[in-house]
Amino acid sequence: MVTKSVDLRSDTVTKPTEAMRAAMATAEVDDDVLGADPTAARLESEVAKIMGKEAGLFVASGTMGNLISVLVHCDIRGSEVILGDNCHIHIYENGGISTIGGVHPRPVKNNDDGTMDIGLIEAAIRDPRGEIVYPTTRLICLENSHANTGGRCLSAEYTDKVGELAKKHGLKLHIDGARIFNASVALGVPVNRLVQAADSVSVCLSKGLGAPVGSVIVGSKSFISKARRLRKTLGGGMRQLGFICAAAFVALKENVAKLEGDHKKAKVLAEGLNQIKGLRVNVAAVETNIIFFDIVEGSKITAEKLYKKLEEHGVLVMLEGPLRMRIVLHHQISSSDVLYTLSCFQQALIGVQEENGN
Ligand SMILES: Cc1ncc(COP(=O)(O)O)c(C=O)c1O
Repeated sequence: MVTKSVDLRSDTVTKPTEAMRAAMATAEVDDDVLGADPTAARLESEVAKIMGKEAGLFVASGTMGNLISVLVHCDIRGSEVILGDNCHIHIYENGGISTIGGVHPRPVKNNDDGTMDIGLIEAAIRDPRGEIVYPTTRLICLENSHANTGGRCLSAEYTDKVGELAKKHGLKLHIDGARIFNASVALGVPVNRLVQAADSVSVCLSKGLGAPVGSVIVGSKSFISKARRLRKTLGGGMRQLGFICAAAFVALKENVAKLEGDHKKAKVLAEGLNQIKGLRVNVAAVETNIIFFDIVEGSKITAEKLYKKLEEHGVLVMLEGPLRMRIVLHHQISSSDVLYTLSCFQQALIGVQEENGN
């Protein structure tokens, strides 16, 4: 019988802490669609201040934050956005920028470190002289940290270069900063410096920071007033919003300091997994709280079988392919959970091999 559960599927699986529940219970609230909720306003201006931008807007999710941001920057149909071919907006957001916004994606190859080559970005910008046939490039999107390449961090210098390129061509720069605090902590660079070149940033509070719900988008006052209107259009205007913002405020105040520990635990776990026969992890690529790892080919073990065995031990991970898995650390994973996980992996692998008759 399983006595312990270690949930490593994502950093979105955290449960609200006692402090978050208490803050929700006592939150001062009012109708936010009427612009009257004091707790929402406080959270929005606090996040904007931390990010070094003029204003902020609470949205239901990271997906909604990215969608609204792209649509505000690309408010003319036939606009095109340059973005990584392996980024969250392009892969996991239902193509919403196209289906809802009429925005055309122009994917550029993501390198293993989450960057796109500056030369390739520049080459993807449409020549306005060809406007009779081309969509019009209006926006570049970056993602920091870059989830699908294993939580790799984009440096401030790289982001600045993309920002300079955007300016040179009259484009805007949006950053999907779902885990921007993870990147800031890992790089040792203040978060406002990391996003200095961006016109807008979508910051998730319900990932590494552990809030139950929500993201805040930040940018100029005029960007945010257009975003507020669009949020309402999308059905994202929420009335007594302060309840969830109160929990998010606690996450912001208490959990940024825990990210460094998450990253250290991720390294320990990655190193431990890499030492287990049959598994392979690029430990050097583990910069933040995300670990991708592979099952060595030819071992007759599939990710699916290993996943099921781990589940029997109460260890939950994410399947990424026939031989690939993902683990994400968060503030509710302790050092002893990490050790337990490593021992479960060892036992699970033995279990799968026994079932295979090896
Ligand atoms: C990098 C990145 N951006 C955006 C999102 C979307 O966030 P949400 O699930 O809150 O819509 C995610 C979700 O995991 C993500 O990893």
